[in-house]
Amino acid sequence: MTRKIHIFDTTLRDGEQSPGASMNTEEKLVVARQLLRLKVDVIEAGFPISSPGDFESVRRIAEIAGNDAVVCALSRAIDKDIDVAADALKYAKRPRIHTGIGVSPSHMHDKLHITEDQCLERAVHAVRYAKRYVEDVQFYAEDAGRSDYAFLARMIQAVIDAGATVVNIPDTTGYSLPDEFGARIKYLFENVRGIEDVTVAVHCHNDLGMATALALSGVRNGATQVECTINGLGERAGNTAMEEVVMGIRMHGSQLNAHTDVNTREFTKASRLVSSITGMGVQANKAIVGSNAFAHSSGIHQDGVLKKRDTYEIINPSDVGAGVGQIVLTARSGRAALKHRLEELGYEFEGTELDELYDAFLAIADKKKEVYDEDLESLLNERDREESAVYTLEGVQVSCGFPLTPTATVTLRDPEGNISTVCEWGTGPIDAVYKAIDKIICVENDLSEFTITSVTRGLDALGEVTVRVKAAGGQVFTGRGADGDIIVSSTKAYLNALNRLISRRH
Ligand code: KIV
Ligand code: ZN
Repeated sequence: MTRKIHIFDTTLRDGEQSPGASMNTEEKLVVARQLLRLKVDVIEAGFPISSPGDFESVRRIAEIAGNDAVVCALSRAIDKDIDVAADALKYAKRPRIHTGIGVSPSHMHDKLHITEDQCLERAVHAVRYAKRYVEDVQFYAEDAGRSDYAFLARMIQAVIDAGATVVNIPDTTGYSLPDEFGARIKYLFENVRGIEDVTVAVHCHNDLGMATALALSGVRNGATQVECTINGLGERAGNTAMEEVVMGIRMHGSQLNAHTDVNTREFTKASRLVSSITGMGVQANKAIVGSNAFAHSSGIHQDGVLKKRDTYEIINPSDVGAGVGQIVLTARSGRAALKHRLEELGYEFEGTELDELYDAFLAIADKKKEVYDEDLESLLNERDREESAVYTLEGVQVSCGFPLTPTATVTLRDPEGNISTVCEWGTGPIDAVYKAIDKIICVENDLSEFTITSVTRGLDALGEVTVRVKAAGGQVFTGRGADGDIIVSSTKAYLNALNRLISRRH
């Protein structure tokens, strides 16, 4: 039997640190349920001291995870952080506190202004302090990838002696070369007493596009936990993509002496879900989950694949849930068919909730001949956005064309139920709509991105708009909206971004 590699998902913590990828608690719960379907071993649910929202997310994810996954909360090596993390994990069946400190010269001297000995002392104290609350304590040696080998070994020895059950060796800046990072892990195995009795984790960033290679090199050299995110979401250039590292281990399991327990058939769905919730699109040529990952366009390739799939395909698309035959729903499909398909997608609805969804489904099915899974996911996201809205859209109307001046009339309902209607003109219809919304909501922001994509194929497809707005303090908020009419989707997307901005402020 090969070594089991524990998959530690940090989409909800490191992933959420990507600018514009912030998720509210309900959205995090939807992602967490998908992580449970993927059968990851550990869910890092948040950084509880950072905000009440993060605290609440960790608490609620701990409730739904039960015994199915370890739920982990991040903290710095600070008592108060650890107290709050422990409080958020109070009801977790399998709680883990993840604490740590920067260990590279740059982090110790320039960021923390401490000596090596002070750094060791703080790390040991944090582990012992966390042990007062939970048995399972993971220590991260931040920026280990640029640390001094001997000091890193001293640090890891000290925290293991203090009771850490997992030691995490991050390449925080994605600086290392894969063989060099692997050598670092090997060095630790050769120089730290008792290291084989704890779990050694790797957490690699993608600044040089090598996060997956770094993580696999860590595994080859002894690591048995990989930290990763769906779609490689994460700080700056992102983190190790779970779908890549897990499929890498699956393809080369005997060479790496490794396997994971992840249900890889859930990858495509997980990727679409995270992309749709965060508004962070997936590039078409992204490994495993990109829309072109299994597309063959040149004649020679098509000929080869038709003769034998593995001439150009190393992965069977169905192994990652791609290209699986979909049941296509139409306006003639009944409630039972909709309920069944939603259940296959992982959503359960009964009673009036199902009735409401069925009505919304019929409204789409009347306009489109066929309703695909993507349409259903878009419908569900739209419903969640409406439920959590601060301002709601009551109506939008535009008049534009050559040689007209584009004008828009927008009607919104505020949280107290008051209705406002404003008419504005702009350089185009969307500019006019956004000016009208700004006049009603009056919240300072800068629109930094606007993209429109079709949810499925065909002229009758839903148009999905993603916008990013920058608030006065520099924080970025993503908004999404989907509708058969792109003016309506554009309006919903902007309103969604402003609603998020306002909610965060409150
Ligand atoms: O990149 C990093 O070092 C981290 C730690 C908090 C684990 O995200
Ligand atoms: Zn990180």
